Amino acid sequence: MEQYIIKGGTPLVGEVQIGGAKNAALAILAAAIMTDETVTIDNLPDVNDINVLLEAMAGIGATIQRVDRHTVKINGGGVRDFSIEYDYIKKIRASYYLLGALLGKYNKAEVALPGGCNIGSRPIDQHLKGFKAIGAEVVIEHGKIIAEAEQLTGTHLYFDVVSVGATINVMMAAAMADGTTIMENVAKEPHVVDVANFLNSMGANIRGAGTDVIKIKGVSKLHKTEYSIIPDQIEAGTFMMAAAATQGDIMVMNVIPKHLEATTAKLVEIGCEVEEFDDAVRVVAKGRLKHTQVKTLPYPGFPTDMQPQMGVTLALCSGTSTITESIFENRFKYLDELARMGANIKVEGNSATIEGVEQFSGARVSAPDLRAGAALCIAGLAAEGITIVDDIVYIQRGYEQFEEKLRNLGGMIEKVSSEKEIQKFKFKVG
Ligand code: UD1
Repeated sequence: MEQYIIKGGTPLVGEVQIGGAKNAALAILAAAIMTDETVTIDNLPDVNDINVLLEAMAGIGATIQRVDRHTVKINGGGVRDFSIEYDYIKKIRASYYLLGALLGKYNKAEVALPGGCNIGSRPIDQHLKGFKAIGAEVVIEHGKIIAEAEQLTGTHLYFDVVSVGATINVMMAAAMADGTTIMENVAKEPHVVDVANFLNSMGANIRGAGTDVIKIKGVSKLHKTEYSIIPDQIEAGTFMMAAAATQGDIMVMNVIPKHLEATTAKLVEIGCEVEEFDDAVRVVAKGRLKHTQVKTLPYPGFPTDMQPQMGVTLALCSGTSTITESIFENRFKYLDELARMGANIKVEGNSATIEGVEQFSGARVSAPDLRAGAALCIAGLAAEGITIVDDIVYIQRGYEQFEEKLRNLGGMIEKVSSEKEIQKFKFKVG
């Protein structure tokens, strides 16, 4: 089993290139099967979640041609099977985007019902509510969601919860419905906008993505396109926090600074210097940073996917900080691991009170999920001594060349899979 071994205590300094947004890519890949023509998608992150989704798509008859590491050509003309099995959903929840894509294109989809996951119970009632509103019959049978319609029909619908997944899934299905769909109380995340832009580049007629109301005029056919995915705001934010936590100086390249504003604002509040360029941000942390309050909210609020990285940073700041997690109920598991590194944190319900410590001490910890795993690596890089992070498969689901990028910034981190390799690393770093 692979682990990361880290020798901490060195500020991270240098430049890092950010890849395409995983969460945008997952939806865009699924939407690519909505035309029989060939779609070319560029700036694709080469991470496990993406590769599993591509496998699921090939499994139902789509032709997938990997042009290079970050470019794929997809042809959905051969799709004959509208059923996605539990094996895929278990590995990658977001395969449920094939529900919206298949329903929109073929008026029929069967996708295994995703269960909960490590960060919370994650219901999908709003996705189903949306599909029903545009005329699909939706039943859950034998662990599968079966959605079917004679003809999808535009409607006016209001989501009870702001959900990224439901907004995107229903938007995809409604793109090929008969008539106009107006969706209110939708998610405004950059990847919602990216998926709308992608569908529009295929001939869809979607307006308002990025605001609270999205208006979709259904079209009968979508066509080929070439599309480049937006930069990953969470990968970017992770490296910005790495600069803060290690008191470093990182130029985060190939980003859209506007998408990072919530993270930037908190970094400035705790005392970092953040400089914005057209497509880069530089984060400089000089000396010890200070406490603040953070509450996770839908975009443009502070992203829940940045909460663990922020938590690690605050645990090293002077004074008492608080974090309120308002999106997912189970996103504080990493704090128990962080406590093993010397952090001083008390969790009550959905809020954590953090008394900053001067330094962490390296320990063996486990990644409880993707973002928390990355956050624990940052903790290790800031800590005195050696940290070993277990269960790094979570990290590999969403970060491309994570350890290489950290090493390029001067971080002492290596992937190891045996005691011998651990000893070799320890010997090398002294
Ligand atoms: C997406 C992201 C995830 C991020 C999250 C919030 C992808 C693949 N994943 O997840 O990384 O953490 O947005 O920014 O893009 N909810 C319901 N009913 C529903 C759907 C959601 O009650 O039908 C609730 C959820 O339990 C949660 C909140 O709504 O409390 C937001 O969830 P949602 O935005 O749907 O997250 P995901 O799309 O699953």
